[in-house]
Amino acid sequence: METNPASKWSFLWILLIWGVQLAQCSVSYDNKALIINGQRRILLSGSIHYPRSTPQMWEGLVQKAKDGGLDAIDTYVFWNLHEPSSGNYNFEGRCDLVRFIKVVQKAGLYVHLRIGPYVCAEWNFGGFPVWLKYVPGISFRTDNEPFKTEMQRFTQKIVQMMKDEKLFKSQGGPIIMSQIENEYGPESEAFGGAGYAYMSWAAKMAVELGTGVPWVMCREDDAPDPVINTCNGFYCDYFSPNKPYKPTMWTEAWSGWFTEFGGPIHQRPVEDLAFAVARFIQRGGSFVNYYMYQGGTNFGRTAGGPFITTSYDYDAPLDEYGMIRQPKYGHLKELHSAIKLCERALVSADPTVTLLGSYSQAHVFSSESGDCAAFLSNYHLETTSRVTFRGVHYDLPPWSISILPDCKNVVFNTAKVGVQTSQMQMLPTNAELLSWETFSEDISSADEDSKITVVGLLEQLNVTRDTSDYLWYMTSVEISPSESFLHSGQHLTLTVQSAGDALHVFTDGQLSGSAFGTRKNRKFTFTANANLHAGTNRISLLSVAVGLPNNGPHFETWNTGVLGPVVLHGLDEGKRDLSWQKWTCKVGLKGEAMNLVSPSGISHVDWMKGSLFMQKQRPLTWYKAYFNTPDGDEPLALDMGSMGKGQVWINGESIGRYWTIYANGNCSQCSYSGTFRPTKCQLGCGQPTQRWYHVPRSWLKPTQNQLVVFEELSGDVSKISLMKRSVNSV
Ligand code: GAL
Repeated sequence: METNPASKWSFLWILLIWGVQLAQCSVSYDNKALIINGQRRILLSGSIHYPRSTPQMWEGLVQKAKDGGLDAIDTYVFWNLHEPSSGNYNFEGRCDLVRFIKVVQKAGLYVHLRIGPYVCAEWNFGGFPVWLKYVPGISFRTDNEPFKTEMQRFTQKIVQMMKDEKLFKSQGGPIIMSQIENEYGPESEAFGGAGYAYMSWAAKMAVELGTGVPWVMCREDDAPDPVINTCNGFYCDYFSPNKPYKPTMWTEAWSGWFTEFGGPIHQRPVEDLAFAVARFIQRGGSFVNYYMYQGGTNFGRTAGGPFITTSYDYDAPLDEYGMIRQPKYGHLKELHSAIKLCERALVSADPTVTLLGSYSQAHVFSSESGDCAAFLSNYHLETTSRVTFRGVHYDLPPWSISILPDCKNVVFNTAKVGVQTSQMQMLPTNAELLSWETFSEDISSADEDSKITVVGLLEQLNVTRDTSDYLWYMTSVEISPSESFLHSGQHLTLTVQSAGDALHVFTDGQLSGSAFGTRKNRKFTFTANANLHAGTNRISLLSVAVGLPNNGPHFETWNTGVLGPVVLHGLDEGKRDLSWQKWTCKVGLKGEAMNLVSPSGISHVDWMKGSLFMQKQRPLTWYKAYFNTPDGDEPLALDMGSMGKGQVWINGESIGRYWTIYANGNCSQCSYSGTFRPTKCQLGCGQPTQRWYHVPRSWLKPTQNQLVVFEELSGDVSKISLMKRSVNSV
């Protein structure tokens, strides 16, 4: 049959339009850059993790990121939030991943979706759900069928969700790139051949999901084609991808560092961060993602561990509360515009490098079409370098790079900060905490049904499955009236070895003392006098997990809790090992079981009114009060500086774990020049590591907000106050 020429033309026309549309929706790459809609791009990106803020904050954060000169937002996907128990999913509220991506899309920015599903991220269990550990035969992040099955199922589910919502760039959406696994390279060294097999499987599995956009693996030098291996670190200018046809990308440019309870705040001077980024770009790097651009808050028990603070501020350009941190934000914004002025030259030419002096270089990108951009660098730590470039003199401050988008005029120097510093202040609000009441955890009245009695000591996570931070270990000790210590005035000593993370020891209901591990060394030994009397003595150990590990080979096998030995020293028989006698375990606190924190559960509980009781400051006490929301729209925070250690909730939402532990560190000096390490610029030594705890405004109602505090040790609740964060420019 003859085809009608008109219909043939219209068919070809449709094909052409379709082809153009497809090209416009495509993401590919070559040796220089990601290619979006047919154009090589220099892309600046920033990590904002959706559950570390509230949906009400997302739009503002993304807008500020856009105004700060970013092209893309990067986020991990947090498996343990989305699948709290196997097969039961949660994508609501702060877990509404699709909504978050659509917020970014609406702002006109791209997304890098780091599915993982292992994420590290100072997040509880590195993002893995705790139930995953109990899948029969499982071994995490290696060539293990049960693990691979679960990982594939979850990854597939996320990719399908994105496809259903048309969120990949190949479908017209904002996602230009995805990540599988996270920093597997250093890990796989311990795993040998199985590690390599798993990594290759993960890459293939991801690519077969057919997202139409590239996949990356960060810190994985073996990443097989077409997956791009990328760099993470404080500097990445030494980095080249594993194949000459892949672009040079930096998925985690650390803008600061995380904080641990007991440690100082780590700051990264913006001069050094800008220097690191400029160094990367002048070497031909084409994608930089700030980890973090806004760190936010580890609400609830999401902090990894142990001992990661509730604040995940990170010294990022946007602070924990989403406020602009100057000069970091503004200086980077200027850097971004300078880089963007160079974009055409950067994507079309390879740099030529010339020495301008012993510590100075020029990187010049000069394209055939006449574009020219130059980066003039001085690596000296202390002295300014006067260089001559193309017949013109330039002064380069120490440890800095000047950017010349036309190879003539300096538009930016990384060490010359022209932006005013902002000082953040916590100011009092008019919110008063009223009608305090208390409820005391009574150790002896633990409900019989929920107890487990066994011979020996059980591993904590196996018992709690992380439904609570707390696990009681209880036993009794018979002391004969003839024991010499009873008559000599000497004391017995109790030693308890714990695998982590914290421990409060009670004898006959009285606190005998507490002990804590550290982030680096979770294991510790509690030693104290044991005040025992003739007859039966009750020993109750409250073991506390302070965030599950998020990093390290097979961290899923690491133990938590009191594994013993538990030993009494100073008896006539010498020492008595209690480890293998009968122990009763109980998961969680009575107040948790009674749901004291929920505004609806609260009425069934006999709270005690009155201030006298409060003043006694007993350990293991719940406190409750009400307040009205203060006027204004500044971000709010609770000042918990008068309290010891515990958790706090408002209107049933968990603000997180608090701990007024003082920061140990060396805060003596900080110079922007020289290679940065987190220990280099420390702040807040000798002060509580974290004093203020973010209270999202969207969790409040105008009046009668319910505050509940659980204090493990002792504290003065009358001094807790609601503060507002405000900027004071200098
Ligand atoms: C990286 C890791 C991130 C985060 C970071 C430290 O190695 O990929 O998830 O943990 O370290 O903040």
